[in-house]
Amino acid sequence: MKRSLIDITDLSPAELRALMDTACDIDAHPERYRESCRGRTLAVLFFEPSTRTRLSFEAAMLGLGGGVLGFSEAASSSAAKGESVADTARVVSCYADIIAMRHPLEGAPLAAARAADVPVINAGDGGHCHPTQTLADLLTVYRAKGGFDGLTVAFCGDLKYGRTVHSLIAALARCRGVRLLLVSPPELSLPEDFLSAVVRPAGIPCRSASLGEALREADVLYMTRIQRERFSPEDGYADLEEQFVLTAKKLENAKKDLCILHPLPRVTEIATDVDADPRAKYFEQVKNGKLMRMALILRLLEDAKKDLPVPPGEAGEGTLCPNPRCVSRAERGVPALLCREETGEIRCAYCGTKTER
Ligand code: NCD
Repeated sequence: MKRSLIDITDLSPAELRALMDTACDIDAHPERYRESCRGRTLAVLFFEPSTRTRLSFEAAMLGLGGGVLGFSEAASSSAAKGESVADTARVVSCYADIIAMRHPLEGAPLAAARAADVPVINAGDGGHCHPTQTLADLLTVYRAKGGFDGLTVAFCGDLKYGRTVHSLIAALARCRGVRLLLVSPPELSLPEDFLSAVVRPAGIPCRSASLGEALREADVLYMTRIQRERFSPEDGYADLEEQFVLTAKKLENAKKDLCILHPLPRVTEIATDVDADPRAKYFEQVKNGKLMRMALILRLLEDAKKDLPVPPGEAGEGTLCPNPRCVSRAERGVPALLCREETGEIRCAYCGTKTER
């Protein structure tokens, strides 16, 4: 397995910092990077709908002088014929130097990375994580605030299925003095498994808040869309969207230097009258996403030259991950793989769900 980006914590804080420095340099001197990936190819394997993330990856590779191939829905790939993620990754390794994969199954990019001969980038796996969106988020906060230590960060919306939320919290959990405010309907709050795996071990203060409280206290407000596609209409979340809407009027009580983020696409959770406010950074975030993906592609292609040791994980023969959305449950030929936490807890290496041996 080549060095890949599956989870945001695959990058150390020093490496994240270096990626942000590279991204800023690319922004200042794009002409210096225009030939950096000449002759190299990125495969974008998108088994789930996306416009901005896929285009962002494609724009990033084109900006580096490389080529792009791939597909944008499962129906136009061999998955429609029943091919496994692992086989698709092995085959595509013969055509491309690096793969960006989005998949509805949690852990699918890790299953792909273990089979591929080239680096794999997780471009979003189900409701699990989305590390390259976090790269965009981090650069936007860094540029607005100059750093992360001591920030109060409020997350609003779908904290259960919002994979961008999970990856950003995992990154912030490594910063000093960060405080989290969580604004969501109880049905869509942060999963207990995530709290026990990421938030509590980091010891970061974290509490539920109303949108009003969050607006008064936060330095960063991370708005998200309700992830309707991840639950059935019978679940009855129809009216949730109206309850967590940011408007220009509500911003009157917020800090003057608040940084408002949203991974996009926006539905109704941010009224368009917020867009003209200088605190709204979500369109800058899009630009930063492309720059960070450029920096990441350069880094992983460089690392692919050395065969870096990759922690193998613990084989989990006979173990069944309890998460029905996990790739190890839904795909044939994906052997169970476990990791043991410092606390002694055992988790599925693909989706992070707590598992019994
Ligand atoms: C997010 C995603 O796909 O998780 N979008 C993105 O990558 N820009 C957020 C979302 O779909 O709501």
